[in-house]
Amino acid sequence: MIIKKAAFVQSKTNYKDCPLPDKCEFAFIGRSNVGKSSLINMLTGQKGLAKTSAKPGKTQLINHFIINEKWYLVDLPGYGWAKVSKESKAKWEKMVKDYLTLRENLFCVFVLIDNRLEPQVIDIEFINWLGENGIPFSLIFTKYDKLSKTQANNNLLKFENEMSKTWQELPPRFVTSSETGFGKEEVLNYLDSMVKN
Ligand code: GTP
Ligand code: MG
Repeated sequence: MIIKKAAFVQSKTNYKDCPLPDKCEFAFIGRSNVGKSSLINMLTGQKGLAKTSAKPGKTQLINHFIINEKWYLVDLPGYGWAKVSKESKAKWEKMVKDYLTLRENLFCVFVLIDNRLEPQVIDIEFINWLGENGIPFSLIFTKYDKLSKTQANNNLLKFENEMSKTWQELPPRFVTSSETGFGKEEVLNYLDSMVKN
């Protein structure tokens, strides 16, 4: 797929205020700083489209982007940011989990995993929550440029092993770098196959 046009639509705190659910939609979630917003920029080829930052906690709202005037990509605030108050954590839970469970045109959620790290409990717990709620998801291992192929594959295998303890089947998996564009075509082709269905 080629993204010819990508534009910001709106930022909201409640799924009820999101655009009419008349187009298919895909959302990016994962730990703060894992690279959700950067991946949206890489996939669309527009550097400043989604706001990114070296500091975790940059994305705070449900951000809609319309792609090729046909479907939505959604940038969500991340989880697992240490410097967050209990109150903010509860707000995140309500906003993101309501969106994920109640947004009717959400086709698939992409859970981004930092490829540099060993499997993190917080990611596994979040994935299990998606499973318990019957929310379809795929995995994207990010920041591939930051480590060697061997290290990247090792961490990927460890993650798969960890997931296999609770999951009989693993979801589709992708490896990306927003720095080099690695994995762009694979992710776009996968999105294309879902948009067409
Ligand atoms: P929150 O909005 O805080 O949840 O974070 P996020 O997941 O949207 O992360 P963001 O895209 O803002 O990126 C966080 C930091 O990681 C930024 O400094 C990015 O430049 C960097 N980054 C993101 N993806 C990559 C990547 O593939 N490679 C490298 N080297 N850096 C990356
Ligand atoms: Mg972000």
